[in-house]
Amino acid sequence: MPTIDWLKQEFDYGYDSGDVLSLTPNETRIEEEKLSGASYGEVFLKAVAVHLKPDAKVLELGPGKGSWSRAILRHIPEGELQVVDFQDVKQWLQPQNYQGRLICHLVQDNSFSMVPDNYFDFFWSFGVLCHNNIDNIAQILKNALPKVKPGGLAVHQYGDWNKLDDYGWEKGGVPVTFQQQPDDQIWWPRNNRATMNSIAQKAGWSVITADLGLVKRDSIIVLRRLP
Ligand SMILES: C[S@@+](CC[C@H](N)C(=O)[O-])C[C@H]1O[C@@H](n2cnc3c(N)ncnc32)[C@H](O)[C@@H]1O
Repeated sequence: MPTIDWLKQEFDYGYDSGDVLSLTPNETRIEEEKLSGASYGEVFLKAVAVHLKPDAKVLELGPGKGSWSRAILRHIPEGELQVVDFQDVKQWLQPQNYQGRLICHLVQDNSFSMVPDNYFDFFWSFGVLCHNNIDNIAQILKNALPKVKPGGLAVHQYGDWNKLDDYGWEKGGVPVTFQQQPDDQIWWPRNNRATMNSIAQKAGWSVITADLGLVKRDSIIVLRRLP
């Protein structure tokens, strides 16, 4: 299932995690936070906001309806956000309202050929790599590296089957039957900290930490492009 064709059609309705910064979370965010064992407000502050200067240039993979994108835009009043998705996210994110500070790319592959080289201070995704198999993630990490400025950071949530074992598959909303199925038939393919560490290094990134420890079910990796 997590082939590029599956990813293209699966999320065409526009995936929404609610307003990640609102004091009162909506139904979707309540449900997602319960399943993943996380506070999205805390994830945003500790994994994203701490790295953003007001004029930062940010690249986001897979914004969907833009829950994280809107929070990022609020934190970079003099900066710029470019988003890359298999869906035409302009319909949800309305870039015309951001005076050139938001650029939405509709893509067909993991090449990142539409975004400039050596341009971004920060590369972010949430709810994206957990649906991509290892080959796709390796491609994404390799092709996105030259887009980030030397010294720039990347932070990505991803699925972690070792954490799922400890946290509980049912509690995490991931069918336990996936353990008997190959990655091309499931929407939460195999991954863990050791694998992410290894593929990120092979792609040329320096791994700061394989997991920030902010989500009980999943991991969040922090990477740096070496200066
Ligand atoms: C589950 S949604 C998450 C949306 C949003 N990040 C959130 O957390 O609310 C995943 C999004 O990532 C996009 N996506 C997944 N893999 C992708 C890839 N390899 N390249 C571009 N977009 C991708 C999907 O089209 C979808 O819009």
